[in-house]
Amino acid sequence: MIGPMSRVLLLLPTDTYRAEDFLRAATRLGVEVVVGSERRQALAGAMGDRAVRLPLDDPERAADRIVELAGRRRLDAVVPVDDQGVAPAAVAAARLGLAHNPVAAVAAARDKAVMREALDAAGVAQPDHRLSGPDDDVRELAARVGWPCVLKPLGLSGSRGVIRADDPAGAATAAARIRRILAQAGGDGRERLLVETYVPGREVAVEALLRDGGCEVLAVFDKPDPLEGPYFEETIYVTPSRLPAATRAAVTAATADAAAALGLVEGPVHAELRVDGDRVWVLEAAARSIGGLCARALRFGAGVSLEEVILRHAVGLPLHGLSRESAASGVMMLPIPRAGVLREVRGREAARAVPDIAGLEITVARGRPLVPLPEGDRYLGFLFARADTPGRVERALREAHARLEVVVDQAGLDDAPAR
Ligand SMILES: Nc1ncnc2c1ncn2[C@@H]1O[C@H](COP(=O)(O)OP(=O)(O)O)[C@@H](O)[C@H]1O
Ligand SMILES: [Mg+2]
Repeated sequence: MIGPMSRVLLLLPTDTYRAEDFLRAATRLGVEVVVGSERRQALAGAMGDRAVRLPLDDPERAADRIVELAGRRRLDAVVPVDDQGVAPAAVAAARLGLAHNPVAAVAAARDKAVMREALDAAGVAQPDHRLSGPDDDVRELAARVGWPCVLKPLGLSGSRGVIRADDPAGAATAAARIRRILAQAGGDGRERLLVETYVPGREVAVEALLRDGGCEVLAVFDKPDPLEGPYFEETIYVTPSRLPAATRAAVTAATADAAAALGLVEGPVHAELRVDGDRVWVLEAAARSIGGLCARALRFGAGVSLEEVILRHAVGLPLHGLSRESAASGVMMLPIPRAGVLREVRGREAARAVPDIAGLEITVARGRPLVPLPEGDRYLGFLFARADTPGRVERALREAHARLEVVVDQAGLDDAPAR
């Protein structure tokens, strides 16, 4: 290896699923890592003095600490792992003169109202939308975008608080429920909500990497389950997409347009779009890679992980030859069947034994609460498959899922919200 070892600050939110995958990627690359997180307990024990506490919810203060850290020993890159680290990373990188997304661009990607404004200004196709303040009549705003509509908070993710409404009463009920979710998430319940036209059609997700403003698509995933609401639980992602080539091209062009409209120029982008006939609509674009453990469905070149691609880009290592493997691949985010306490997940061996199944991870411990959408913010687990065609991947995921039995204890749930 030529030159000194690169040194990277990884921003790992306390509740990330991806600490291990990023640390493994850094080890493989021979990159030295310092980990920044909100709480010290969250930091891998082995990190020792290479772990720092950072208030990720306060980007300016977190950046102060990062600049201080870089003053003591050089940092070559600040890499956010999930949404929470994106703003502090941008503020710190700007102060340190590192290549990164502009602060305003990541702020736009984190706030759905600002994002809608930026996409409108650039003429990117997206759902018609209105903002509803706490004192507005949400029924009237919803009627203006038309029925059915979708109501959502501006700053949450993972479909948390995203609800379809079919009529005025449904819109009012949904808005009240979203405000309760926001209050639970630490807000004051008086935040503005987004009310948008429900876009029918098939949903896809695009994983891309921005380099100096250029947008390179890493994978296009189909989401073959109908996502019609009223809640939008993510389930199956399969790549490569089975959409016609022209539609895929329109999807990737819309992703690049959305990233450019937001002002994003460096690092991973995860976009979600809907395809209705020959029209493509951008639902959202985030300045991060795919969430949960879903990145494990992706492999590049000779077995390189998405985390490695992201770190390579961040420290300026070569990326050529890193197209996605030729096999089809997919992941299923396991649905939470009902609210309660997780007793056990039966049938794991039977599920793993399904041909083409590549892995199963249950990410909720026994005895822990299970909270379905729209309130929930944790995944029950992830099922992975790899095969020669997307159809086989999808079938394997469905069959393995059918072999799992999620045993939920519903006692003691009297305090749970009415559903
Ligand atoms: N306007 C819409 N029309 C149809 N479905 C939508 C719309 N907005 C959101 N959804 C559904 O809800 C999911 C989550 O919404 P999204 O805006 O991506 O919020 P989040 O940041 O929580 O992922 C989407 O993936 C999609 O399935
Ligand atoms: Mg989304």
